[in-house]
Amino acid sequence: MKKTIRDYDLKGKRVIIRVDFNVPIQDGEITDDNRIKASLETIRYAIRHQAKVILMSHLGRIKTEEDKLTNTLEPVALRLSELLDQEIIFIDETRGKLLEDTISELKEKEVLLIENTRFEDLNDQAESQNNEELGKYWASLGDIFINDAFGTSHRSHASNVGIASNLANGIGFLIEKELKALEKTIQRPRHPFTVILGGSKVSDKIKMIENLAKKADYILIGGGMAYTFLKASGIEIGSSLLDDEHLAFCQEMLEKYSDKIILPIDSVNALEIKENVETRECFINEIKENEIGLDIGNQTVKLFKQYLEKSKTIIWNGPLGCFEIEQFSSGTKKICEVLSRIDAKKIVGGGDTGAAIIQFGYEESVSHISTGGGASLKLLEGKKLPGIEIIENKK
Ligand code: 3PG
Repeated sequence: MKKTIRDYDLKGKRVIIRVDFNVPIQDGEITDDNRIKASLETIRYAIRHQAKVILMSHLGRIKTEEDKLTNTLEPVALRLSELLDQEIIFIDETRGKLLEDTISELKEKEVLLIENTRFEDLNDQAESQNNEELGKYWASLGDIFINDAFGTSHRSHASNVGIASNLANGIGFLIEKELKALEKTIQRPRHPFTVILGGSKVSDKIKMIENLAKKADYILIGGGMAYTFLKASGIEIGSSLLDDEHLAFCQEMLEKYSDKIILPIDSVNALEIKENVETRECFINEIKENEIGLDIGNQTVKLFKQYLEKSKTIIWNGPLGCFEIEQFSSGTKKICEVLSRIDAKKIVGGGDTGAAIIQFGYEESVSHISTGGGASLKLLEGKKLPGIEIIENKK
């Protein structure tokens, strides 16, 4: 058993809480705040127990100076302040005198949010590569470290593993809840066991297919990642999302697991990814050269339904189309509907899939909505999560 926030006396202590505030933001507006809400229990507990609360999170992926402009955590500070009904001290840097001085003046029950930890990735990927000096530096800002960022726990970053290696630590309520909901189902799923895989983090997920195929009876693939598999099976996918690097691997998987991997048989396409664009639904081998496949079609929904109806455990990770745009939301919406009528253990994982389920009003019809997409898949693969492994065990 891992130590938790309950195992520490927080009064007067600088408590660093690593949260996952990696939320979708469009034109400065947060379009889905579920991950912020999911962090509130731990933050409120720390405030109630008179800690000086220091919050850290990543947001998006930072490769250039420009990425910083659209990935600041400032909008999150504002939303958090509304949800907690108290001021959030936002420091728009990840290290330096202002940050250190503000923390040293922080009072009990006050909450400070540090800027996006991945801004440090412009410094030789210091955050994502778990740079030792950075982990030590951030640890020096606190007395206790609580990891509550379940969604990031499959990554070994300076802001989780790095800090935890240098400070007394524990997990928060969100991670505790996620493990409770996921571990048993994942370790001993009832069969038939079906995994629905979609979303756009294609290369992250493709690599997991082999381990998933060993555990699941069926893997239904939709969303952005389907098109690389379709291409690997010899189908022309026009201008759809393609992960060239993994084509040979997908081919190998299709040969090895031909009875388990189920691909779309039709597709909803457009020439551009935007609202109100003209769309065309066609069989999968009829996608035109200039078209982008952006959703599964009706025939695929029917096909997937046949597999889902006989399943006893279903894990869904990644939307089946570009659901944020009305014209490409139908596949994801219809699969939500299908799931709501099925009696099985149903776990939905990942920020986007959770957002879709909630947006379409089906949250009550699933057993658990996990805040972690990649993290829950890693667990499902039978892998350890470094961000949780590093946390001290109870004696
Ligand atoms: C997620 O959204 O899955 C987590 O916040 C991790 O984000 P990442 O895939 O960019 O590391």
